[in-house]
Amino acid sequence: MCTIKHLQNAITFAGGLILSAADLKITEKTSPRDLVTQYDRLVQERLIAAISEKLPDAQFVSEESAEKGDLNAENAFIIDPIDGTTNFIHRMGNCAISVAWYKHGEPFYGAVYDPTANEFFEAKAGEGASLNGKPIQVSDQPMRNSIVLFGTAPYNPELTDLTFELIRKVFGKCQDIRRMGSAALDICHVACGRAGLYFEATLSPWDYAAAALILKESGGTFVNLSGQEIVLSLEKTSVVAGNKNIIAESGIINS
Ligand code: IPD
Ligand code: CA
Ligand code: CA
Repeated sequence: MCTIKHLQNAITFAGGLILSAADLKITEKTSPRDLVTQYDRLVQERLIAAISEKLPDAQFVSEESAEKGDLNAENAFIIDPIDGTTNFIHRMGNCAISVAWYKHGEPFYGAVYDPTANEFFEAKAGEGASLNGKPIQVSDQPMRNSIVLFGTAPYNPELTDLTFELIRKVFGKCQDIRRMGSAALDICHVACGRAGLYFEATLSPWDYAAAALILKESGGTFVNLSGQEIVLSLEKTSVVAGNKNIIAESGIINS
């Protein structure tokens, strides 16, 4: 049997691997912007081994593994071993391990751990979300008092114009904008009220699976750019995260 404690320990241990990383071997995936290191693979390998030891039938959908498991299995884990690899490579901090645990297609538990800041965001379905054990909530502030975060969909250049049109739209309404470099942490920064809104024109399931549960358990809304609720699948999707009012005020839905 795998317990949440066992998973938390495995994630924290893997965070130590990120902190002590040296001699990075950087490889291009789809473009010079889309990179992977031996640590992305090592973290993935360690997490899968630690979970499989307790749950031999567990299914995995993990970014650096070509084989994608069944998301509707009794126990499915959606893993981004390092979200924010470009930050990690440039020693910028703000990168995270993201693990979502789904049971029979329903979210059960999500964790996003930034080892460089020692911040562990987590949520269990129906039980609220926390940061380092303390409950968190989305902000209730309007746009004019809020920071807006966004991702540049860097691996999909065909979405660049749309991305910068959306940024142009919100920039005049909010306090300021930030491009931090980890989608999972961006969503968690909204969940804990540091930022009011986050959007990105396309994300993969491992980027958002854990953070979406953390956001929703913090009282936040998680939809696509058409305003529809996002159902986890292997397909990419656009993402908007915030509280209901700020999403309406932003004017980016259906724009
Ligand atoms: C990326 C980061 C980035 C976001 C990209 C993601 P990766 O994940 O979350 O902030 O803009 O869309 O793919 O490649 O570092 O795991
Ligand atoms: Ca990612
Ligand atoms: Ca990654």
